[in-house]
Amino acid sequence: MMNGKPVIIVAAMDRKRGIGYKGQLPWRKMPADFRRFRELTIDNPVVVGRKTFESYGSKPLPRRSHFVVSRRSDYQPPDVVSAGSVESAIRMASFAECHHVSVIGGSEIFREALDRGFIDRMYLTRIESEFDADVFFPECQEDDWELDSEDYFPKDGDPHACTVFGYVRRENMS
Ligand SMILES: NC(=O)c1ccc[n+]([C@@H]2O[C@H](COP(=O)([O-])OP(=O)(O)OC[C@H]3O[C@@H](n4cnc5c(N)ncnc54)[C@H](OP(=O)(O)O)[C@@H]3O)[C@@H](O)[C@H]2O)c1
Repeated sequence: MMNGKPVIIVAAMDRKRGIGYKGQLPWRKMPADFRRFRELTIDNPVVVGRKTFESYGSKPLPRRSHFVVSRRSDYQPPDVVSAGSVESAIRMASFAECHHVSVIGGSEIFREALDRGFIDRMYLTRIESEFDADVFFPECQEDDWELDSEDYFPKDGDPHACTVFGYVRRENMS
């Protein structure tokens, strides 16, 4: 929790935890998974690393205020808030009128947010396939997380089947 707001991770990975390749997603578009991503993040602030933000053209996704993390003090793209650390990005985002704050990557930002204990809940899509990847979702301490949902989605319109896992940090469980 930050400022009373839950902080969540929304991420998609392949079976080997690959999340990115050459600055982009490793897989072709997954429209159904993108819709789930949209539903989880819409009308709430997102915290995103500079490289991921640039990977989608340095343009904010609609109906989501963006808090972009960079160590460069001169980094100030239009229509977003720049933050010098993951903590300050989450903190500033939590002051927005919102239900929760979503941390949406990439790997450096996921790692720091998890290592620093900022994350309350994770929605992790596992795409049931393997791809070339050069960045990976961090390994998590199994003991820290309780799996509270698991939903399998067959291919349908998407090029790959996937499973969406919901995890809640154990100390947050009542
Ligand atoms: N599958 C998914 O769910 C998913 C989600 C998001 C991204 N991705 C993929 O992941 C890849 C990008 O991830 P990435 O790990 O290379 O980069 P990233 O996490 O998006 O951004 C890294 C940048 O964030 C800034 N940064 C990182 N730690 C910081 C800290 N502690 N304090 C201040 N600034 C910090 C630095 O920016 P400066 O260099 O400007 O200082 C750093 O270069 C892409 O391939 C993207 O497509 C996948």
